[in-house]
Amino acid sequence: MEPNIAATEHTRGRYNRIAPLYDAMEGVVETLWYRRWRTRLWRDVVGPHVLELGVGTGKNIPFYPPGVQITAIDLSENMLKRARRKLAERPRENVTLQIADAQALTFADASFDTVLATFVFCSVPDPVQGLREALRVTRPGGQLLLLEHMLARPEPLARIMTRLDPPFHWLSGVHIARRTVDNVEAAGWSIDSVTPLSPGSIFRHIVAHRVAPAEGERDARERSDKGLAARNLH
Ligand SMILES: C[S@@+](CC[C@H](N)C(=O)[O-])C[C@H]1O[C@@H](n2cnc3c(N)ncnc32)[C@H](O)[C@@H]1O
Repeated sequence: MEPNIAATEHTRGRYNRIAPLYDAMEGVVETLWYRRWRTRLWRDVVGPHVLELGVGTGKNIPFYPPGVQITAIDLSENMLKRARRKLAERPRENVTLQIADAQALTFADASFDTVLATFVFCSVPDPVQGLREALRVTRPGGQLLLLEHMLARPEPLARIMTRLDPPFHWLSGVHIARRTVDNVEAAGWSIDSVTPLSPGSIFRHIVAHRVAPAEGERDARERSDKGLAARNLH
């Protein structure tokens, strides 16, 4: 599916504008929480081929593990410029940074063992399309690791976030009322775990994987057996 050009340009424009301030704006939350969450997320990375979506100013670069080949992409030239600077401070041979749209990746099917993103699917204009592309480029059995903020669980807070989402998005390019766990499932990933990280479950750590063919057949067989058993009970 073709990405929505106007929506994608809106997001790119907002991040290009915000890029010079981004690290300063995130400084406190980065120190208090994000750094710890990133450490935990990167611990699970399986190589050799890893894709980071929405690398931004390169805040994950210090966490890149040795011995894996990392391709990191972003929509915004100004964000990526800052990531390039961070990479230059700690040069690594096996890291490639490039401009690309997560909704229309140019990588071949099944190219990566792990696809990872931190605080990105709140901004990708069509998140299900981006997550479908992530699935396509992941090998069967490969994994998706995400840190994301999304719509809160408690209903009163969720209602406020839904109201504030359109102006917030217009100003910043960020959606604050995304249903990212549902989006991951809708894109075809099999979810392994969702760990709430903050009050109201606004921030969550998501681990999912691309079902391998043998596993898919086994799942289908189990579903069919369960269906038969259930029918036999009635
Ligand atoms: C909130 S920032 C997060 C940056 C970084 N991952 C971090 O943890 O600090 C979101 C990033 O996603 C990028 N982004 C948004 N939509 C994208 C898309 N369709 N394809 C690639 N990158 C995208 C933005 O340009 C921005 O750099």
